Amino acid sequence: SRFKVGYLIGSLSSQSINRKLAKALIRLAPEGMQFHEIAFRDLPLYSPDYDADFPQVALDFKAAIAASDAVLFVTPEYNRSIPGGLKNAIDWATRPSGTNSFARKPSAVIGTSPGAIGTAIAQQSLRGVLGFCNSPQMTSPEAYIQFKPGLITDEGEVTVPGTEDFLRKYMAEFHAFIGRVLTVLPRQ
Ligand code: FNR
Repeated sequence: SRFKVGYLIGSLSSQSINRKLAKALIRLAPEGMQFHEIAFRDLPLYSPDYDADFPQVALDFKAAIAASDAVLFVTPEYNRSIPGGLKNAIDWATRPSGTNSFARKPSAVIGTSPGAIGTAIAQQSLRGVLGFCNSPQMTSPEAYIQFKPGLITDEGEVTVPGTEDFLRKYMAEFHAFIGRVLTVLPRQ
Protein backbone atom coordinates (compact mmCIF):
# COMPACT_ATOMS: atom_id res chain seq x y z
CA SER A 1 0.00 0.00 0.00
CA ARG A 2 1.03 3.59 -0.54
CA PHE A 3 1.34 5.93 2.43
CA LYS A 4 0.87 9.67 2.20
CA VAL A 5 3.54 11.31 4.31
CA GLY A 6 3.34 15.00 5.19
CA TYR A 7 6.65 16.53 6.18
CA LEU A 8 7.28 19.63 8.27
CA ILE A 9 10.60 21.42 7.96
CA GLY A 10 11.31 23.26 11.19
CA SER A 11 13.43 25.92 9.49
CA LEU A 12 12.21 28.92 7.50
CA SER A 13 15.70 29.59 6.16
CA SER A 14 16.12 29.81 2.38
CA GLN A 15 19.49 28.04 2.91
CA SER A 16 18.14 25.42 5.27
CA ILE A 17 20.29 22.34 5.72
CA ASN A 18 17.20 20.60 7.10
CA ARG A 19 15.41 21.23 3.81
CA LYS A 20 18.37 19.56 2.07
CA LEU A 21 18.02 16.65 4.48
CA ALA A 22 14.29 16.39 3.72
CA LYS A 23 15.08 16.25 -0.01
CA ALA A 24 17.56 13.47 0.63
CA LEU A 25 15.07 11.50 2.72
CA ILE A 26 12.47 11.72 -0.04
CA ARG A 27 15.02 10.48 -2.61
CA LEU A 28 16.03 7.58 -0.38
CA ALA A 29 12.53 6.54 0.70
CA PRO A 30 11.26 3.12 -0.35
CA GLU A 31 8.45 2.57 -2.84
CA GLY A 32 5.11 3.08 -1.21
CA MET A 33 5.66 6.52 0.28
CA GLN A 34 4.31 9.67 -1.27
CA PHE A 35 5.42 13.03 0.17
CA HIS A 36 3.92 16.48 0.50
CA GLU A 37 5.29 19.40 2.46
CA ILE A 38 3.07 20.78 5.20
CA ALA A 39 4.16 24.42 5.32
CA PHE A 40 3.53 26.59 8.35
CA ARG A 41 5.24 29.89 7.61
CA ASP A 42 1.98 31.79 6.98
CA LEU A 43 0.35 30.86 10.29
CA PRO A 44 -0.05 33.79 12.67
CA LEU A 45 1.06 33.40 16.25
CA TYR A 46 -1.56 31.21 17.88
CA SER A 47 -4.01 32.68 20.38
CA PRO A 48 -7.11 31.03 21.89
CA ASP A 49 -8.96 34.07 20.57
CA TYR A 50 -8.85 32.35 17.16
CA ASP A 51 -10.67 29.25 18.40
CA ALA A 52 -14.16 30.64 17.82
CA ASP A 53 -13.35 31.47 14.20
CA PHE A 54 -10.31 29.60 12.93
CA PRO A 55 -8.55 31.38 10.04
CA GLN A 56 -8.50 29.60 6.67
CA VAL A 57 -4.71 29.25 6.75
CA ALA A 58 -5.00 27.24 9.97
CA LEU A 59 -7.90 25.15 8.66
CA ASP A 60 -5.80 24.35 5.58
CA PHE A 61 -2.85 23.45 7.79
CA LYS A 62 -4.98 21.06 9.84
CA ALA A 63 -6.51 19.60 6.67
CA ALA A 64 -3.03 18.87 5.31
CA ILE A 65 -2.22 16.87 8.43
CA ALA A 66 -5.57 15.09 8.28
CA ALA A 67 -4.82 14.11 4.67
CA SER A 68 -1.55 12.45 5.75
CA ASP A 69 -1.15 8.86 6.89
CA ALA A 70 1.90 9.97 8.84
CA VAL A 71 4.01 13.05 9.50
CA LEU A 72 7.77 13.48 9.36
CA PHE A 73 9.46 16.29 11.29
CA VAL A 74 12.79 17.45 9.89
CA THR A 75 13.94 20.17 12.22
CA PRO A 76 16.92 22.19 13.34
CA GLU A 77 17.73 22.79 16.98
CA TYR A 78 17.28 26.36 18.23
CA ASN A 79 18.68 27.09 21.66
CA ARG A 80 18.47 23.41 22.59
CA SER A 81 14.80 23.14 21.62
CA ILE A 82 12.71 23.31 18.46
CA PRO A 83 12.28 26.58 16.55
CA GLY A 84 9.41 28.73 17.80
CA GLY A 85 7.69 28.66 14.41
CA LEU A 86 7.42 24.89 14.53
CA LYS A 87 6.08 24.92 18.08
CA ASN A 88 3.54 27.54 17.06
CA ALA A 89 2.44 25.33 14.17
CA ILE A 90 2.04 22.31 16.45
CA ASP A 91 -0.03 24.41 18.85
CA TRP A 92 -2.33 25.45 15.99
CA ALA A 93 -2.76 21.81 14.94
CA THR A 94 -3.93 20.79 18.40
CA ARG A 95 -6.72 23.38 18.57
CA PRO A 96 -9.62 24.08 18.93
CA SER A 97 -9.84 21.71 21.87
CA GLY A 98 -11.09 18.28 20.81
CA THR A 99 -9.72 18.56 17.26
CA ASN A 100 -6.08 17.62 17.86
CA SER A 101 -4.74 16.83 14.38
CA PHE A 102 -1.84 14.76 15.73
CA ALA A 103 -3.89 12.34 17.81
CA ARG A 104 -3.15 8.78 16.59
CA LYS A 105 -1.13 10.16 13.68
CA PRO A 106 2.13 8.24 13.29
CA SER A 107 5.22 10.45 13.30
CA ALA A 108 8.98 10.39 13.01
CA VAL A 109 11.55 12.97 14.04
CA ILE A 110 14.91 13.74 12.43
CA GLY A 111 17.17 16.74 12.09
CA THR A 112 20.59 18.05 11.24
CA SER A 113 22.88 20.69 12.68
CA PRO A 114 26.55 21.61 12.27
CA GLY A 115 26.96 20.86 15.97
CA ALA A 116 28.31 17.52 17.16
CA ILE A 117 25.05 16.30 18.74
CA GLY A 118 23.05 16.89 15.54
CA THR A 119 19.78 18.27 17.04
CA ALA A 120 19.54 15.56 19.71
CA ILE A 121 18.16 17.92 22.36
CA ALA A 122 15.63 19.52 20.00
CA GLN A 123 14.43 16.05 19.03
CA GLN A 124 14.03 15.05 22.66
CA SER A 125 12.02 18.22 23.26
CA LEU A 126 9.84 17.54 20.20
CA ARG A 127 9.25 13.97 21.36
CA GLY A 128 7.84 15.28 24.62
CA VAL A 129 5.43 17.52 22.74
CA LEU A 130 4.36 14.76 20.34
CA GLY A 131 3.88 12.40 23.25
CA PHE A 132 1.42 14.78 24.82
CA CYS A 133 -0.26 15.17 21.41
CA ASN A 134 -0.88 11.39 21.39
CA SER A 135 1.11 10.82 18.22
CA PRO A 136 2.60 7.31 18.01
CA GLN A 137 6.28 7.98 17.34
CA MET A 138 8.92 5.85 15.72
CA THR A 139 11.41 5.70 18.56
CA SER A 140 14.04 3.63 16.80
CA PRO A 141 16.16 4.25 14.83
CA GLU A 142 17.08 7.70 16.03
CA ALA A 143 18.91 9.97 13.59
CA TYR A 144 21.20 12.77 14.72
CA ILE A 145 22.89 14.07 11.62
CA GLN A 146 25.90 16.33 12.00
CA PHE A 147 25.98 18.50 8.89
CA LYS A 148 29.37 19.17 7.36
CA PRO A 149 29.65 21.37 4.25
CA GLY A 150 28.82 19.32 1.15
CA LEU A 151 27.20 16.42 3.02
CA ILE A 152 23.99 16.87 1.02
CA THR A 153 23.77 18.74 -2.29
CA ASP A 154 21.03 21.25 -3.07
CA GLU A 155 19.34 18.47 -5.05
CA GLY A 156 19.31 16.19 -2.02
CA GLU A 157 22.13 13.86 -2.98
CA VAL A 158 24.04 12.49 0.00
CA THR A 159 27.78 12.53 -0.68
CA VAL A 160 28.87 10.23 2.17
CA PRO A 161 27.89 6.60 1.44
CA GLY A 162 27.63 5.57 5.08
CA THR A 163 25.23 8.42 5.81
CA GLU A 164 23.25 7.66 2.65
CA ASP A 165 22.85 4.03 3.73
CA PHE A 166 21.82 5.06 7.20
CA LEU A 167 19.17 7.49 5.91
CA ARG A 168 17.83 4.89 3.48
CA LYS A 169 17.43 2.44 6.34
CA TYR A 170 15.80 5.14 8.47
CA MET A 171 13.14 5.67 5.79
CA ALA A 172 12.61 1.93 5.31
CA GLU A 173 12.01 1.66 9.04
CA PHE A 174 9.60 4.58 8.96
CA HIS A 175 7.65 2.92 6.14
CA ALA A 176 7.41 -0.29 8.18
CA PHE A 177 6.44 1.65 11.30
CA ILE A 178 3.59 3.44 9.51
CA GLY A 179 2.30 0.09 8.28
CA ARG A 180 2.33 -1.34 11.80
CA VAL A 181 0.55 1.65 13.32
CA LEU A 182 -2.12 1.81 10.62
CA THR A 183 -2.85 -1.88 11.19
CA VAL A 184 -4.00 -1.15 14.73
CA LEU A 185 -5.11 2.48 14.24
CA PRO A 186 -6.69 2.73 10.79
CA ARG A 187 -7.37 6.29 9.61
CA GLN A 188 -10.97 7.37 10.08
C1 FNR B 1 21.07 27.82 16.13
N1 FNR B 1 21.92 26.74 15.91
C2 FNR B 1 21.97 25.73 16.86
N2 FNR B 1 22.60 24.52 16.58
C3 FNR B 1 22.58 23.53 17.48
O1 FNR B 1 23.10 22.47 17.21
N3 FNR B 1 21.97 23.69 18.69
C4 FNR B 1 21.36 24.84 19.06
O2 FNR B 1 20.81 24.93 20.13
C5 FNR B 1 21.35 25.90 18.11
N4 FNR B 1 20.73 27.08 18.40
C6 FNR B 1 20.47 27.99 17.39
C7 FNR B 1 19.60 29.05 17.62
C8 FNR B 1 19.27 29.91 16.59
C9 FNR B 1 18.30 31.03 16.83
C10 FNR B 1 19.87 29.74 15.31
C11 FNR B 1 19.50 30.65 14.15
C12 FNR B 1 20.73 28.71 15.11
C13 FNR B 1 22.64 26.60 14.64
C14 FNR B 1 21.83 25.80 13.64
O3 FNR B 1 22.07 24.43 13.83
C15 FNR B 1 22.19 26.20 12.22
O4 FNR B 1 21.86 27.56 12.02
C16 FNR B 1 21.47 25.34 11.18
O5 FNR B 1 21.90 25.71 9.88
C17 FNR B 1 19.96 25.50 11.30
O6 FNR B 1 19.29 24.63 10.42
P1 FNR B 1 18.66 25.15 9.04
O7 FNR B 1 17.88 26.40 9.32
O8 FNR B 1 19.84 25.46 8.12
O9 FNR B 1 17.85 24.01 8.54
